[in-house]
Amino acid sequence: MDVTYPAERRFTTRTGEAMRLRPIRPDDVPNLFDFHERLSRESLRMRYFTPRRRLTNEVAVRLCTVDFRDRAAFVASPLESDTIHGIGRYERDAPNSAEVAFIVEDALQGRGIGPALLERLAEHAREQGIDRFTAAVLYENTPMLTVFRNSPFRPQVSVEGDCAFVKLDLTVLPQPAAQTPPKSLAPRLRQLRAPA
Ligand SMILES: CC(C)(COP(=O)(O)OP(=O)(O)OC[C@H]1O[C@@H](n2cnc3c(N)ncnc32)[C@H](O)[C@@H]1OP(=O)(O)O)[C@@H](O)C(=O)NCCC(=O)NCCS
Repeated sequence: MDVTYPAERRFTTRTGEAMRLRPIRPDDVPNLFDFHERLSRESLRMRYFTPRRRLTNEVAVRLCTVDFRDRAAFVASPLESDTIHGIGRYERDAPNSAEVAFIVEDALQGRGIGPALLERLAEHAREQGIDRFTAAVLYENTPMLTVFRNSPFRPQVSVEGDCAFVKLDLTVLPQPAAQTPPKSLAPRLRQLRAPA
């Protein structure tokens, strides 16, 4: 697969640990298995709506092999290793829209890793022409709903039964440079677009 990997960024958690937000890679499969082992049944239930999710090698390879256009995933790792502490991913489900999901290692929840992953994922998605994120979240999942509600993306939440459906508007982020015509071309384009 021909993949252009997006840039790695650094951030500091609410409790002061320096971390990296880095693109997931095919060679993260062993790191993903280790991460999965450390997740509680409750975190798995919140993420997958079932506490008994077995991670097969085939699924792990798929989760780590993304094109960063229609499927993207960023990982929170410490500076000194590729250990996975959290993952945020999107899968495009329409030309301008993608479904997102997040999971952070239990011991590190509540430190702002989820919001950092959301912000990085949103920035990258916008560069890929995606202007809306959607998510299906268990209504009882206050931490995830808090992350969405506290985000700058004008969250809209609708509830059906025990599920909350969230929509986030990524157009609050600036238009990516690649979609803006170069300055010298702008007047010419305006002329061309002007009604006769
Ligand atoms: C939902 C999740 C991704 C949020 O990531 P995070 O890094 O913990 O996010 P934050 O640190 O910003 O915490 C979000 C809020 O929930 C609270 N919180 C986080 N973990 C918590 C926990 N285990 N118990 C109670 N509250 C918790 C935080 O205090 C924070 O609230 P505040 O902003 O009012 O202080 C993470 O908690 C997680 O992985 N949960 C299990 C998987 C899951 O639910 N995935 C969502 C499926 S789409």
